[in-house]
Amino acid sequence: MTAPTTAGAAAPGTPGTTAAAVQVSGVGRVFPGEGGRAVTALEHVDLTVGAGEFVSLIGPSGCGKSTLLRLIADLDSPTSGSIAVFGRPAREARLGHDYGIAFQQAGLLPWRTVRANIELPLSLHGVGRGARRERADEMLALVGLADFADHFPDQLSGGMQQRVAIARALAERPSLLLMDEPFGALDEMTRERLQSELVRICAETRAAVVFVTHSIPEAVFLSDRVVVMSARPGRIAGIVDVGLGRSGDRGDGLREDAAYFAAVTAVREALHGGAESVPSRGVETR
Ligand SMILES: Nc1ncnc2c1ncn2[C@@H]1O[C@H](COP(=O)(O)OP(=O)(O)O)[C@@H](O)[C@H]1O
Ligand SMILES: [Mg+2]
Repeated sequence: MTAPTTAGAAAPGTPGTTAAAVQVSGVGRVFPGEGGRAVTALEHVDLTVGAGEFVSLIGPSGCGKSTLLRLIADLDSPTSGSIAVFGRPAREARLGHDYGIAFQQAGLLPWRTVRANIELPLSLHGVGRGARRERADEMLALVGLADFADHFPDQLSGGMQQRVAIARALAERPSLLLMDEPFGALDEMTRERLQSELVRICAETRAAVVFVTHSIPEAVFLSDRVVVMSARPGRIAGIVDVGLGRSGDRGDGLREDAAYFAAVTAVREALHGGAESVPSRGVETR
């Protein structure tokens, strides 16, 4: 798809918008390496993420997951191909604040309170004081940290800091959330709790999410679809349609459901066996 670049395109994420949240078309990224040994981080990647859809990227270390996320975020540019976010080039989407980002490290400013950290993107973009405060309160309630607004980051646990980072990423009401292993540094119990919270938050905000993870259970629990990538060069090896229902219906009981285990197995086989050996049911290959 060639992205319309003109003004007058529908506002991102508004009801009735037909453009996909993300459209990655024939994307490659080659990094010039030391001594002329270039690294092909991504090759021939095509991927569409629908508005409101939750898609995880999973694959071995170094297969290009972070590179793909950074390209979507316009923190880097593809060597070939193109990327559209809500029907417009990634650069325009970044300037229009269409997306929020959360990484493995919460990246909070230690000298600012929780509230001030959440308000930061809003103040950078000229939102007035009253509106900022109201929005921060709303976000604090959403991530369950209303009582911690005036704390500083180092007074919070790792899980709480990550919730603040998510609140900050959502502060500008992005229609797209880009997350790179946001729960990777947390213990398993905190991680499962935050996964459930993220599912609830996504159901409430209806944001589309592209979520990078190493964890198969995490990818399956969270996602509508899991994109399995292979290394060197990074490509999409298969896409598992998880099909466990709308994110809002996903409770913790899902983790003991037969359909959940079947999806975990399908992702595992796609990862380890390559696309060919995967049972065709529920798995798209390309
Ligand atoms: N800025 C860069 N310069 C050179 N090589 C890079 C750069 N960023 C990533 N790479 C290389 O691209 C490949 C994919 O990296 P990355 O996207 O970080 O993988 P993943 O997130 O899946 O672990 C790796 O081989 C990595 O060394
Ligand atoms: Mg990475």
